[in-house]
Amino acid sequence: MEVMKRTTTCGDLRRSDAGKTVVLNGWVHRKRDHGGISFINLRDRYGITQVVAGEEGAAGADLAAVVAELRNEFCVAVEGLVRPRPCDMVNPAMATGEIEVAASRLVILNRSEALPFQVDEESDAREDLRLRYRYLDLRSAGMQKRIRLRSETAFAVREWMTSQGFYEIETPTFIKSTPEGARDYLVPSRLYPGKFYALPQSPQLYKQLLMASGFDKYFQIARCYRDEDARGDRQPEFTQIDIEMSFVSRDDVLAVTEGLMGHVFRKTLGVELPAHFRRLSYEEAMERYGSDKPDLRFGLELKDFAPYVAEGGFQAFKDALAAGEADRKAAAAKGVAIPGGGVKALVVPGAASYSRKQIEELEAHAKIYKARGLAWMKVAGADMPALEGGAAKFFAPQAARIIEGLEAKSGDLILILGDSKRRIANIALGAVRSKLGRDLGLIQGDTAGGSESPRFEFLWIVDFPLFEFNEEENRWEAAHHLFSYPQEQYHAALEQDPGAVKGDLYDLVLNGCELASGSIRIHDPALQKRVFNIAGIGPEEGEKKFGFLTEAFKYGAPPHGGIAPGLDRLVMLMAGETSIKEVIAFPKNSFAVSPMDDSPSEVEPKQLEELHLRVIPPSKDLRE
Ligand code: AMO
Repeated sequence: MEVMKRTTTCGDLRRSDAGKTVVLNGWVHRKRDHGGISFINLRDRYGITQVVAGEEGAAGADLAAVVAELRNEFCVAVEGLVRPRPCDMVNPAMATGEIEVAASRLVILNRSEALPFQVDEESDAREDLRLRYRYLDLRSAGMQKRIRLRSETAFAVREWMTSQGFYEIETPTFIKSTPEGARDYLVPSRLYPGKFYALPQSPQLYKQLLMASGFDKYFQIARCYRDEDARGDRQPEFTQIDIEMSFVSRDDVLAVTEGLMGHVFRKTLGVELPAHFRRLSYEEAMERYGSDKPDLRFGLELKDFAPYVAEGGFQAFKDALAAGEADRKAAAAKGVAIPGGGVKALVVPGAASYSRKQIEELEAHAKIYKARGLAWMKVAGADMPALEGGAAKFFAPQAARIIEGLEAKSGDLILILGDSKRRIANIALGAVRSKLGRDLGLIQGDTAGGSESPRFEFLWIVDFPLFEFNEEENRWEAAHHLFSYPQEQYHAALEQDPGAVKGDLYDLVLNGCELASGSIRIHDPALQKRVFNIAGIGPEEGEKKFGFLTEAFKYGAPPHGGIAPGLDRLVMLMAGETSIKEVIAFPKNSFAVSPMDDSPSEVEPKQLEELHLRVIPPSKDLRE
């Protein structure tokens, strides 16, 4: 086949190129025929150029025959003369809109069958169809732009980390299981029947070993694998910007991360971030926003309603606080500190017009988060605001005090939620806050909501609890992972009240999404043993699972700490998307399946035999 190699790309030509003869290679994006003249929008990675054919009359019979055959997504080579478009044909929306290429030769490099969907700016095809024909979907301008942003982001990460003296070091992907809380993907060993490698949920243990090895500053753009339910911001296979440093305190790790984000946003988006991000303690975030990853692009903070409960007549709130207090006292008698009950309120500006049905929808949403109900009242009256509707009658005598205390105004809706567990009151009302933020369009700079100029609200959450109580299994477990350092002041009494122990743990939140997690690590084998013990991991199990790490710590391991921002989530937020699938070239669908290559798929019986495996069919569909 004749190869007509491009001399320029479809995004390059400008008015100053008029008069040049060029060769373009690309795909037929659109073809329009106008009375014997054809306009072909030719597309490649760099842009679109208009090609004109058919003005040659009988002399161009061969060319006309080829042009007649062209369909969308044919891959072609065009030779032609660059010329300015007539004034009334200039297209300012196109970078190449001032010129067109008058074709003199056109070669079809490859034909395309009828397309399953059009390659558009943004495809509106169903997700599974897009994933089934991902190579076509990736041709769309939107996907091309996002994959480019991802590549530029990865480059900027490497540029900045290297400039700060970090080494990029690969860690193995066939490993001993790492504990990040999800299920492992396992790889059976042919040579050792019944033995398995695990794919890393993160390089956690290996990066700590690299610190023991003296590498001091490590980073890696690392693939991670977790067998957990897929969601908008989760994939079974994803990528972390994994970072670890020796001889550092929390603030050093935060500063490195802030510098990294600043560089990445400046280089890729031209956005200047603040030098330092806001910080909230976990407790404050829960109290004020009912979430450990609050979206600070809008206010709508949770307020304490407990001071108004005793005088009022709303029995459910009184009961919640009394039950919470009883639980708190019982726990205190055992030396355990718990917060008791809580009654929290949200003042929703201008939402007094909400219908009963809309409020019921909010209540249903709160119930997903274990709330028992959601009380409400409205603020009415211009000069002398008063409470009305819903629970107002129970609080009539203190109405003025409530309105003032909550800083409510006429036309506002007040939502109130009480529970004997303060955590539930906070989390359920926090979920209502998030829903209202979206529903009422309160989020400033929300690109998902159509805003043109995105806003990026970074936030550090610090001082997380080190342990969480697993009620189902009736035991303490690590809130982040087992290697995080309990803050010094809790060391003496770790075992006595694990729930009260704060860790040197931090999360980076961006626009309400957890972008990164990290911690200062334990480097003292004795302290590590105590933490294992509290999490129910005895010496034998600790030795079996993590012996290689604890052993390494016996040989002068340095104090160290690190963090891991998710690359997929970072690029998703930078691109203003709500699903990481939009920034991954070949993602899985929500059932962990790739509709394109049909993985996971069955393997030959011989392969199973070689691996000494037999499949036991499940009795039900495991995806349910
Ligand atoms: P963690 O488990 O919090 O911490 O993960 C760190 C970051 O990785 C991203 N992430 C994911 N992204 C897409 N799909 C997933 N399934 C997924 N799971 C996690 C998130 C998250 O904030 N080893 C520790 C880090 C450390 O302590 O240094 C770790 O992996 O952006």
